[in-house]
Amino acid sequence: MTQHRIPLAGVIGHPIAHSKSPQLHGHWLKKYGLAGHYVPMDVAPDDLGVVLRSLPKAGFVGANVTVPHKETALRLADFVSKRAKLIGAANTLFFGEDGKIYADNTDGYGFMQNLRDGAPDWSPSDGPAVVFGAGGASRAVLQGLLEAGVPKIMLTNRTQARADQLKEEFGDRITVVDWIQAGNVIEEAELVVNTTSLGMQGQPELRVPLDGLQPGAVVTDLVYAPLKTKLLQTAEDAGCTTVDGLGMLLYQAVPGFERWFGTRPEVTDDLRAAVLG
Ligand code: ATR
Repeated sequence: MTQHRIPLAGVIGHPIAHSKSPQLHGHWLKKYGLAGHYVPMDVAPDDLGVVLRSLPKAGFVGANVTVPHKETALRLADFVSKRAKLIGAANTLFFGEDGKIYADNTDGYGFMQNLRDGAPDWSPSDGPAVVFGAGGASRAVLQGLLEAGVPKIMLTNRTQARADQLKEEFGDRITVVDWIQAGNVIEEAELVVNTTSLGMQGQPELRVPLDGLQPGAVVTDLVYAPLKTKLLQTAEDAGCTTVDGLGMLLYQAVPGFERWFGTRPEVTDDLRAAVLG
């Protein structure tokens, strides 16, 4: 007789207490009445390899990985998706029955789904995007936008060398724009994205002159604490469509949950409330 084990999954980070993923997956497991567990795991960097190899034997079907393990998890995986390779980091792992580790990155997907949900009239072919920031989050946004077919991305970062590096990796549709001059290209944009940590609680604001923005342009911020950043408030006052960053966190979790627990979950207002609560 085949023994069906209750599927286990979780999130691996260091530290891990701040992670919203257990609330998120826990909400869906309960909502859909599924047998399964999702647990937070605090794993020190030196232990990651051993832990990843032992999880499939312990009944885990996969895991999310967060700071500081996203790049190492990619290196340790047996198979890597195209988008995870391009982003250079993994956020979602699937374990085969043979114990093999498959690494994916759903952050760019989560970004795009959130954008499509919050700005249904926006289309990738509308025109150029301006992206602020060239860190890990920016890499996921670039992957999502380029895969969706955005024709041109003007990328700007305080440390320009990091933006130049991303142009090398992501190709000719990226144009690097000087950080101080970035306000000048805003009027060309159909989409403005903040991927920096500016605007987060306790951080300075990202100050961008938005008066030149096209009517109908969309402004989105990856920051979700606070939900309405100064950037989004300014954009709203200027008549733009705005999209906050919480949905990206929620949507990036969908592919993992579906694969591990067998049900495609929905991103709804009650989920947003549960994660914020
Ligand atoms: P993440 O993985 O969240 O993207 P990261 O890789 O540390 O984190 O990147 C943080 C981003 O926020 C970078 O674009 C960073 O700019 P630098 O590359 O110049 O450091 C940006 N950032 C953070 N603090 C900033 C500040 N005070 N002014 C301008 N940009 C800032």
